[in-house]
Amino acid sequence: MTNLRITNELNSGDRGDLMSVLRGERLWIPTSRDYPRHNDWLDSTEAAIGEGNKHAFFARIDSSAAGAIVYRADPRDDTVMDIRNISIIPSSRGRLLGSFMLRQVEVEARESGSSLLRVDTKLGNEAMIGFLINNGYTVKDITDLYGDETGEDVVLVKNIG
Ligand SMILES: CC(C)(COP(=O)(O)OP(=O)(O)OC[C@H]1O[C@@H](n2cnc3c(N)ncnc32)[C@H](O)[C@@H]1OP(=O)(O)O)[C@@H](O)C(=O)NCCC(=O)NCCS
Repeated sequence: MTNLRITNELNSGDRGDLMSVLRGERLWIPTSRDYPRHNDWLDSTEAAIGEGNKHAFFARIDSSAAGAIVYRADPRDDTVMDIRNISIIPSSRGRLLGSFMLRQVEVEARESGSSLLRVDTKLGNEAMIGFLINNGYTVKDITDLYGDETGEDVVLVKNIG
């Protein structure tokens, strides 16, 4: 038996467990090489979620955190919803959980007036790129997005207008 719960109305326990997922050992990306400022991003994300400036869908399977998607409207263009992190923990993968949560973000984005979803990932993150293409995203740009010489980033978009 499996008890699956997905929400973007996070209580304090959810917020703590969400940050544990995001702070947890990054089995999927070599964080220090690819995202040297990841810890700063986590600190600002925790504050922004608390203040309501960023949002997150968070999934729990039974009592354990299973995954999260962090997103926020582009402050310079509220027709664009930026997905800032997608993390499904390894033991919860393959259930379409990532796809389902991504769809929830897309529906919320459309309801709040966005017409474009945008997400970036490292060019070497083939799993994430494959996952996003499978979910209807197309490559818009390949560039060193953060200018920090950590390799090229792929920007993918999905029109939801
Ligand atoms: C990629 C990821 C989100 C997939 O989550 P998931 O819940 O297992 O994905 P789903 O079950 O919804 O998969 C849907 C489809 O995506 C594609 N996909 C999923 N994982 C994939 C992988 N490792 N490689 C290639 N394609 C993949 C497949 O086409 C899959 O469809 P299929 O099962 O019919 O083959 C998850 O593995 C993850 O969190 N990886 C690490 C993400 C990361 O690097 N985050 C940090 C940067 S944002």
